[in-house]
Amino acid sequence: MTSPRRYHITTFGCQMNKADSERMAGILEDMGFEWSEDPNEANLLLYNTCTIRDNAEQKVYSYLGRQAHRKHQQPDLTLVVTGCVAQQEGEALLRRVPELDLVMGPQHANRLQDLLEQVFDGNQIVATEPIQIVEDITKPRRDSKVTAWVNVIYGCNERCTYCVVPNVRGVEQSRSPEAIRAEMEQLGQQGYKEVTLLGQNIDAYGRDLPGVTESGRHQHTLTDLLYYVHDVPGIERLRFATSHPRYFTERLIRACAELPKVCEHFHIPFQSGDNEILKAMSRGYTHEKYRRIIDKIRQYMPDASISADAIVGFPGETEEQFENTLKLVEDIGFDLLNTAAYSPRPGTPAAVWDNQLSEEIKSDRLQRLNHLVSTKAAQASQRYLGRVEEVLVEDQNPKDPTQVMGRTRGNRLTFFRGDIEELKGKLVNGKITQARAFSLTGERVDILIPTGG
Ligand code: SAH
Ligand code: SF4
Ligand code: F3S
Repeated sequence: MTSPRRYHITTFGCQMNKADSERMAGILEDMGFEWSEDPNEANLLLYNTCTIRDNAEQKVYSYLGRQAHRKHQQPDLTLVVTGCVAQQEGEALLRRVPELDLVMGPQHANRLQDLLEQVFDGNQIVATEPIQIVEDITKPRRDSKVTAWVNVIYGCNERCTYCVVPNVRGVEQSRSPEAIRAEMEQLGQQGYKEVTLLGQNIDAYGRDLPGVTESGRHQHTLTDLLYYVHDVPGIERLRFATSHPRYFTERLIRACAELPKVCEHFHIPFQSGDNEILKAMSRGYTHEKYRRIIDKIRQYMPDASISADAIVGFPGETEEQFENTLKLVEDIGFDLLNTAAYSPRPGTPAAVWDNQLSEEIKSDRLQRLNHLVSTKAAQASQRYLGRVEEVLVEDQNPKDPTQVMGRTRGNRLTFFRGDIEELKGKLVNGKITQARAFSLTGERVDILIPTGG
């Protein structure tokens, strides 16, 4: 009898990559592979990579170096690189690491079985050509039993001058509303309670699908999708990411306020608080427009939580322009902000401009921004003290087994005393007793009767 084939996946990068990894794991299990916690005991290793900043390629090469070495002792080891570095480097990866069996870009994730079968027939494969993404027919192996990601649009048609995503993820491709709803219905039946709809630029959802209304509007927009999937039975909470300020509409805000399952949390990256920099980034909005969106959201949902991404040290950014970013953060008071120092990426316009800033300036600005962010987030957190918040219990607190953890509708990580066996996947009311910058502690008040749909 042959021993079972075992696989291990290492995932870097964003939610898109995590969702792709879950689908690829599903495909591998369908093919008879079993998960191996220890990568060194697996005979198929898959690295799902990210190239958004820093020397992501170098990190991948260093991981691969070690495993390529192992392959000389264990010739049946299959080495796969997927994701955004795979797309960016393509053939170059094979030239540097000839032990690799398969290099495939993100658009090919759902074709993993097909490509692996070619590998097992003795081929070495690079799959990076643009394709129409095939609908996934296997079941993803999801990390959580409570919350799930559902892709709604792949790719990005924007051309932000710092960003590699359009190069590596290709053009926008929306899934049909029916396919999205069908996936969500299955999730509801399996006991999932929360779904996050995913897209790099989720506001672009539906633009590439056929059909316009009488008034000339696209028939399929994110707003329409929210109405269409809102009543999926079993799913109690809906989220979506990532929003682009350029396309964020009042119609969408109204829908979020109106639809009870849509959580009052919005992730809307602004990148910079300075109009000149925003222009150089080709973001297509001003800081005034961004502020108007946040005002509008707060008008409809006064307690909405707002998170965003920002970049410091973009080429040519002056101290004054950086201070405009600080000012925006000061004024809006984000619940969470992902910050990054600008990193030149291959194949992007800004990478070759001659007004690059020094690493010292970038890291100094990053520190100053991060300091302000945690001060503001700690302040924003205070509003939860003494309140009763609805928490969807996801897991045990890894640092304290007497506690469970979950998220509020505003996406704050929250801990309280409780038994995970009893509470996993339940919506629980917790009275908040401690508020830290990015997490809360509470006491259970009672269990909500699921509202059901
Ligand atoms: N689609 C989303 C996010 C894409 S990438 C959006 O439009 O906002 C996630 C985040 O990485 C970005 O929001 C940005 O803040 C950061 N990022 C992207 N390219 C970067 C670069 N070259 N250097 C530093 N940060 C970058
Ligand atoms: Fe990158 Fe801009 Fe597309 Fe976001 S919208 S993925 S930052 S190009
Ligand atoms: Fe990274 Fe690709 Fe996501 S570059 S951030 S994994 S789209």
